[in-house]
Amino acid sequence: MLLPPSVRPVEGPADPTSREAWTRAADNYLAHCARAANWNKLIEIPAMRRLLGEARGKRTLEVGCGPAHYSVWLAQQGAEAWGLDPVAALLEAARGSAEAAGVELRLRPGGVECLADYPDAHFDMVLFPMMLEYVDDLASTFRQANRLLTAEGFVAISVVHPMRSFNVKHETEEGEELRIVSGYLHSGVFEWSQWIMRDADGNDIPCRSHRRTIEEYVEALIGAGFLIEALREPDASPEGWLLDPRTCRENHHCPNFLLLKAAKDARRL
Ligand SMILES: C[S@@+](CC[C@H](N)C(=O)[O-])C[C@H]1O[C@@H](n2cnc3c(N)ncnc32)[C@H](O)[C@@H]1O
Repeated sequence: MLLPPSVRPVEGPADPTSREAWTRAADNYLAHCARAANWNKLIEIPAMRRLLGEARGKRTLEVGCGPAHYSVWLAQQGAEAWGLDPVAALLEAARGSAEAAGVELRLRPGGVECLADYPDAHFDMVLFPMMLEYVDDLASTFRQANRLLTAEGFVAISVVHPMRSFNVKHETEEGEELRIVSGYLHSGVFEWSQWIMRDADGNDIPCRSHRRTIEEYVEALIGAGFLIEALREPDASPEGWLLDPRTCRENHHCPNFLLLKAAKDARRL
């Protein structure tokens, strides 16, 4: 399998290493979120917002919300927005954003294990934005989400596109070229220290995440009682192409994000 030097397959779970890593890298992540033209803003966020649709009067739960930009946006649309994240510094940032936006969020510290605490049929939408890679038990997480949803409810998911996880950049005479990893079907837990996982002294912060195929996400949803309503591999918006053509060209070469929307399967209610 072709992998970047800073990535290696490991035995065992992703959590709690991943949780500790996000705690240590919280400031870096907030700096990434504050950038006007980061790849989430260029590509993932507009596509996810289109998937979510009308939010007025809905009760929403954002799992692994971090700074909770979706919850702030949903609350601005008139939703009662709830959020959950294990990293205190990210929740603090979420509180700050909500205050600045003049909206109220119901935030709670904790990871996916806290899903068990909410009552049945409590939410109209459960969001898992850019966080399922850090969750070890996808099946039970989706079963809990299904239990928490009203009969018309749905889950919305964004993840690093499985074709894109651990891509390799290669220097050519024309500049940097993106090489896609080999071994697409090689799923499992990987330890890595790419991207924002560096401390203030430049030392690596080891993080663990799951590399899963599209089939694994889809099958886990179906197994938990969902029907797939939409699958998106979003291109950048025209404004995105103007702001950062290099990122958008790379995304066009191999998509950065996979989005899924799945409704409760009425046949299994
Ligand atoms: C890439 S960040 C995404 C944050 C936010 N959802 C966003 O889109 O900006 C990954 C998030 O997953 C959270 N996380 C990691 N492990 C988790 C777990 N087991 N349960 C819930 N959240 C978790 C981290 O604290 C972090 O906020």
